[in-house]
Amino acid sequence: MSERRALIVGATGALGPAICRGLSSLGFGLVLVARRPDPLARLARGLRARALPWDITRDPALLLDLAGPVTLLVNAAVRRPLAPEAEDVWSPEVVRRLFEVNALAPARLVRAFAAQLTAPGLAILLTEEEPPLSPYAASIAALETMGPALAEGFPLCGIRFLSQTRGPKVGPQRTAARVGELVSGLGAEEP
Ligand SMILES: NC(=O)c1ccc[n+]([C@@H]2O[C@H](COP(=O)([O-])OP(=O)(O)OC[C@H]3O[C@@H](n4cnc5c(N)ncnc54)[C@H](OP(=O)(O)O)[C@@H]3O)[C@@H](O)[C@H]2O)c1
Repeated sequence: MSERRALIVGATGALGPAICRGLSSLGFGLVLVARRPDPLARLARGLRARALPWDITRDPALLLDLAGPVTLLVNAAVRRPLAPEAEDVWSPEVVRRLFEVNALAPARLVRAFAAQLTAPGLAILLTEEEPPLSPYAASIAALETMGPALAEGFPLCGIRFLSQTRGPKVGPQRTAARVGELVSGLGAEEP
């Protein structure tokens, strides 16, 4: 059987590296995505992974073509609001960008991912549970509202949302372990 391959978007954040290390230790070949090439290249080097600098709002089909076949997609890319003095959270440009990065782009990426599957696959979407009501919260909720419908028409694709829980912050190690549990049933690709 061939190597299992995963695409990790938002790989260089607070959470991504722990998830990448966990998946690498489970034997996944990794393609790592974020916008800034330097931290991405550093992370990829340490994991013998492939670095693919990319903005999630770009064409998802092209990203998947460049990445090659994958059966696991993890999205940890997020656009958080800046401090109120740095941006007007209600300006149309800011709200549009929140929805583009946090809702529209992941939704399109999941659909493109599901469409390229030839074996059972899984999309894991990292989200934040009940952020304070705001355009940011609305952008997170927009993606969650699409839920399993994201994979409609693609029976090979499973979808899981992994929310950051309220109260004490769930650390990256704990979240990485939960990702590991979710992927445990995912078989290897056909050769
Ligand atoms: N931290 C936790 O323990 C935890 C637990 C459960 C769930 N979550 C959720 O997981 C998600 C990630 O959290 P985090 O703390 O790791 O966030 P973070 O530190 O802000 O990292 C965000 C990542 O996304 C990338 N990114 C941002 N905009 C992008 C874009 N337009 N295109 C491609 N990549 C982009 C960033 O790299 P570039 O800036 O280089 O693009 C970075 O790699 C959040 O939704 C969070 O609520 C976190």
